[in-house]
Amino acid sequence: MDALTLISQDHSNLWRLAATVDQVAGEIEAGAPVEQPFFNAVFDYIEQFVDRSHHPKEDDFLFRLLRLRSLEANAVLDSLQIEHRDGPAKLTTLRNKVTQASTGQLSGGQLATELRNYTAGLKSHIRTEEKDILPLARTVLLEADWAEINRAFLDNADPLFGDKAKEEFRQLFHRIVSLAPESVGLGGSSAGTLQPLPERSKAEVQLRVEGMESCYGRIKALKGISLEVRRGETVALVGANGAGKTTFLRTLSGVQPMSAGSIHFKGQDISKMRSDKRMRLGICQSPEGRQVFGPLSIEDNLRLGAYTQPRDQVDGDMEKIFTMFPILKEKRALPAGTLSGGQQQMLAIGRALMGRPTLLLLDEPSMGLAPLLVEEVFNVIRMLKSKGMTILLVEQNAFAALAIADRGYVLETGNVTITGTGQELISNEQVRAAYLGM
Ligand SMILES: Nc1ncnc2c1ncn2[C@@H]1O[C@H](COP(=O)(O)OP(=O)(O)OP(=O)(O)O)[C@@H](O)[C@H]1O
Ligand SMILES: [Mg+2]
Repeated sequence: MDALTLISQDHSNLWRLAATVDQVAGEIEAGAPVEQPFFNAVFDYIEQFVDRSHHPKEDDFLFRLLRLRSLEANAVLDSLQIEHRDGPAKLTTLRNKVTQASTGQLSGGQLATELRNYTAGLKSHIRTEEKDILPLARTVLLEADWAEINRAFLDNADPLFGDKAKEEFRQLFHRIVSLAPESVGLGGSSAGTLQPLPERSKAEVQLRVEGMESCYGRIKALKGISLEVRRGETVALVGANGAGKTTFLRTLSGVQPMSAGSIHFKGQDISKMRSDKRMRLGICQSPEGRQVFGPLSIEDNLRLGAYTQPRDQVDGDMEKIFTMFPILKEKRALPAGTLSGGQQQMLAIGRALMGRPTLLLLDEPSMGLAPLLVEEVFNVIRMLKSKGMTILLVEQNAFAALAIADRGYVLETGNVTITGTGQELISNEQVRAAYLGM
């Protein structure tokens, strides 16, 4: 772990927090009550973590050294530092607005605007640091600079930044999670209104897997997995490397043989069905590691995803994908290999969507992506979820996956060990210790 990784992780958390506040702002605008404890938790976190710790640390070390090494950085750093300086006052103003709104002195719509202004500032600040400052720091700072920065950021005894402080920040963050409105969980977005949970838990079971086993030669990779997914649910499957997550998805879509157990989909026993038939039924997978066809154009990659579909709907569906991912439209004629990692991930998801899934399987969609791209991919998943898509999400990024999932399953060496709602798993001690690094 180095300072840069740490800073990027902080940014990713803050970004998620900002997206959450945006979503709550939307709900307040639509008439939801102002939950003051939730906002207090968010503001406490920003005050203690961002304003008192993260920003001063950047000012004193990263920014100071960057100014020494690069004259061109000065203007950007000046404006970032002004934002650092003004942060606490802005937060105080916002706290007052929330109080005013909860006592009826300010309308929900007015508060929503204030909240959005604030998060827009926060996001643009993070974006500038991620896109301009950190890359510049990587190129111009000397080894000795990094040693100094890392020492400062990784000092476990530092009262502002060390282990004790980190524990407090975690507690604060966890408080936000537990106080966040249920419809949001952590990491909401403005992508759409989520269906309320109770409705979904009453929806019919769409997928039921019982006692699934699968082997590689003599090694049993899945040792009897049982799991169900209801219509409209987002279910997360998390677990360490080699737990069997990918094997599970591949067995489900029929490309990996199942040696025992059963799979029912929409009431039908599909245990012995060929994979292309399963795809026709609507089980479509975006595979691990993206696996787009590099030499083929983006358009042709999308067409491949629709090979089980009637021809006359393909062009229309492709336009829908292009609306969802405008960058793909821009580059539609180019080889897929020219896309960035994040864009290829969008393409892989788009290709799965071309099969008109009724159950979308996503295998580690955030793998290998920079924090802001991870956020973009998760925004897409949230948007699909808000439209009612049934999703089975496999992730190494357990926190993010559980935060948007209705329910989750923890997989350990071929067995499901813990299951519960996304929020339950996030607060589960065992899960936190093993997968969330907390
Ligand atoms: N092609 C293969 N041949 C033999 N063993 C395999 C093969 N693929 C996976 N395994 C083994 O099966 C087990 C489960 O692997 P799997 O890839 O399903 O795990 P995973 O949870 O997806 O891991 P990761 O987080 O690394 O993607 C592991 O022990 C792995 O070594
Ligand atoms: Mg895998």
